[in-house]
Amino acid sequence: MALTTPLARKMGIRYPIFGLAHNIDVMVALGKAGGYPVFGAARSMPEEIAEEARIMKDRLGDLPFGIDLMLPSTVGDDTDREGTKSNLPDSHKAFVQELTEKYKVPPATKPTFFSSQIRSQQLFEEQMAATLESGAHSFASAVGMPPEMIQRAKDHGKVTFSLVGAPRHAEKAKAAGVDVIVAQGYDAGGHTGPIGTFSLVPQVVEVAGDTPVLAAGGVGHGRHIAASFGLGAQGVWLGTAWLASKEHALCDALLNKLLKSDSLNTTISLSHSGKSCRIVKSAWSEEWDRPDAPEPLKMPYQQVLTADLVAGVNEHEIEPLLYEATGQSIAWFNELKTVDEIMQRLVSETEVALDNMQKQLAG
Ligand SMILES: Cc1cc2nc3c(=O)[nH]c(=O)nc-3n(C[C@H](O)[C@H](O)[C@H](O)COP(=O)(O)O)c2cc1C
Repeated sequence: MALTTPLARKMGIRYPIFGLAHNIDVMVALGKAGGYPVFGAARSMPEEIAEEARIMKDRLGDLPFGIDLMLPSTVGDDTDREGTKSNLPDSHKAFVQELTEKYKVPPATKPTFFSSQIRSQQLFEEQMAATLESGAHSFASAVGMPPEMIQRAKDHGKVTFSLVGAPRHAEKAKAAGVDVIVAQGYDAGGHTGPIGTFSLVPQVVEVAGDTPVLAAGGVGHGRHIAASFGLGAQGVWLGTAWLASKEHALCDALLNKLLKSDSLNTTISLSHSGKSCRIVKSAWSEEWDRPDAPEPLKMPYQQVLTADLVAGVNEHEIEPLLYEATGQSIAWFNELKTVDEIMQRLVSETEVALDNMQKQLAG
C-alpha cells in the first residue's frame, strides 16, 4: 500500500508529511525527502522573507513549499520598540535584570528579530505582502486567521492552511474558505491550546467536512501517523521533529538538552511570548514559574521585555537558560539524524503500523 492520500497527491508530494521549521536547510531537505515544507517566517523581516523564499525556490526547483506567518489580532499598532520598552513595569525590568546578573549573561553583539523591533499590525501587513509576492505555493496562518488575509492569499493563487486548536477555530477557518485545516493539539511544540491532539483531530474533522485536515502535536512515530488516518486526518504536520536534525544545526548545548528530553521535559509557559507556548523545560521556565516571579506580559510586550536577554543567552550559549519551542513528541527524537533519515524512519514505521493494524483487524 503506497503511503499517500488525496491531499498529498493534490499538493504534489510523495508522503502526506508536512513540516514547519524556521530553517531553510531543513525545509529544502524536507521537500527533497518527499514531505511538504512550510517555512516559519514569523521571525523574519519582510525583506528577509523575499530572500528566504527566493533561496528555497532556487534550491527546491519545482517542489512546492509554503510560508507560515503568525497574525494575532490582539497585537496593536505600536511600532516604537524602545519607547515601549522604557514604559514596561519596573518590577518586570528588575526581574529580567536579576536573571541577567544571576546567569552572567553578556549583552548580545548582534541584533535579533525580537531585539530590533516590536510585533505590530504594520509588520504583519508587510510580512504578508512579502509572502504573497514570493514564489511560495502556499500560505499558512497561525495564532490568528484574519479572513481577509486568507482571501488575499487565495487571490494570489496560494493554497491556504490554518492552524487551529479548537473546533470553533475550525469553524472560522471553514467559513473563511481555508483549503487545509491543521488541527494542532496541546501536545505540540510552540503556541498551543488546551485540547489534546487525540481529542481535537476528530472534532475538527467533523467540522471540516470536505476540507482536508492534518493532525499536529505529538507526532513523532509512524504509529502516530497511522493513527492520524484513523482519526480522519489526511496527513500530519510536525515541528519538533526537525529540531533534532543535522540540517537544523542547533548549538550543541541546546541540541544536547533536546536529545536528552522526553515528554515530561516540556512545559506550557507564558514566558516565551505572553501566549501559552510549549517549550523545553530549563532554568528559563523554572525562573518564570517562581512564586515571586512577575506575571509574563501579554504579546507583544513579553518579547520586548526579554528580547535583549534572550539574544545574549542564545549568542553566548548560556546553557541553563537556553530553551526552544518543543513538543511532547521530543520523546521520539533522541539521536541526531538528517531530515531524510527522519523521514525514512517515519515512513517505514507508518507502513509497519498500517500493516499491523490490518493484521489485527483481520483477527
Ligand atoms: C521550534 C518550533 C517553532 C514553531 N514555530 C511556529 C510558527 O512560527 N508558526 C506556526 O504556525 N507554528 C509553529 N510551531 C508549531 C508547529 O507548526 C507545529 O504545529 C507543532 O510543532 C506540531 O507539534 P510537534 O511539535 O509535536 O511536532 C513551532 C513549533 C516548534 C517546535
